[in-house]
Amino acid sequence: MLATGLEGVVAAETAIATVGQESLGLRYRGYSVVDLAEGASFEEVAYLLVHGELPGRQALEAYRERLAALRPLPEALYAILRLLPADAHPMDVLRTGCSALGTLEPEGAGRDQYAIADRLVAALPTMLLAWHHAGRSWVPHAEPSGLAHSFLLALHEREPDPLSVRMLDASLILYAEHELNASTFAARVTTSTLSDFYSAVCSAIGALRGPLHGGANEEAMRLIERFPDPDSAERGISEMLRCRERIMGFGHRIYKHGDPRSPLMKSWSHRLAEASGDRVLFPVSERIEALMWREKGLHTNLDFYSASAYRLAGIPTPLFTPLFVLSRITGWAAHIIEQRAHNRLIRPSAAYVGPEPRAFVPIEQRG
Ligand code: SDX
Repeated sequence: MLATGLEGVVAAETAIATVGQESLGLRYRGYSVVDLAEGASFEEVAYLLVHGELPGRQALEAYRERLAALRPLPEALYAILRLLPADAHPMDVLRTGCSALGTLEPEGAGRDQYAIADRLVAALPTMLLAWHHAGRSWVPHAEPSGLAHSFLLALHEREPDPLSVRMLDASLILYAEHELNASTFAARVTTSTLSDFYSAVCSAIGALRGPLHGGANEEAMRLIERFPDPDSAERGISEMLRCRERIMGFGHRIYKHGDPRSPLMKSWSHRLAEASGDRVLFPVSERIEALMWREKGLHTNLDFYSASAYRLAGIPTPLFTPLFVLSRITGWAAHIIEQRAHNRLIRPSAAYVGPEPRAFVPIEQRG
């Protein structure tokens, strides 16, 4: 039976996360994602996903130090990043940087999959920010507070406000893993051929770039910022729906009764709006949310309120989806390792709907 887009198809077993199972909710290795986003740091969750258990104090300290030591890039990679145009799409920068690192430090040669996972968790932020700062050999400051703090510190080149740091840390946790989403499935398909770790991550980055998947948070921001007030948003979105346009940040293949990550991201957006005195972004976002529920019966997904929260933290829109990569690399790594542990080539079938059998006609007779 044809399942377009593999909708409803169970394509693998996984011990990493449950999504959309009403009785279980969204959990990473058994822990509620909301509990993790409210009580843990991104580094604890990265360790949980990649290495299987929440770290104790000593293990967390050692992990943070290992990541800090793995952040600097090879000089050749800084040189490559400096050659990339300033107006390149940052997702292309990360895809290029990941591929280059895999070429400079190929898997094997004493580098096992866990070492590569830690290397990518540590180095992808450096690639993004080194390019963002015109290829300077940027390395995050020693980071007692982790990626969220060092990212905002390096981005703005000043001490970030604690609320924005806590929002970004929670957001990195919410974005970290989501079972067989398109980019994770792309990583598992590549892994199933016994290809290398870096090639699987490049496949995933390419899949995440699309606006139906990770690119939705940027498109949602570009939509929200078009409207100066809620009433104009109501008019504008209604017109888009009349033209049967997709409203980015809404709907989900799995969640038909709401994305369990959205309420937490919405509350962060509201807190940042209150703290900054914003009177537009959050009210416009809420009006769009109400209209989409009333007119289409669609809920927000994680990307919708991530948009306003990131903007209110001063993050440039083109870096929204790359931040998704800096988080989701942890889920992708866990799935690559899991696929390898129980591998079988992933190769579905297709229903043929092409031409009936026909005789070949040589070029001389084809006119
Ligand atoms: C992520 O899979 C994951 O887990 C992904 C993710 C993760 O953490 O990895 O959760 C992250 O990618 C979230 C999704 C971000 N994408 C967007 O916000 C893009 C906008 N959303 C849609 O395009 C859509 O909702 C999808 C792609 C997310 C899901 O699409 P489906 O399951 O293929 O559903 P569909 O396209 O068949 O839509 C069903 C109906 C259609 O109406 P009809 O044509 O049948 O009349 O709902 C409508 C759609 O037109 N619809 C929308 C809509 N989403 C669905 N209409 C307007 N705006 C939308 N956003």
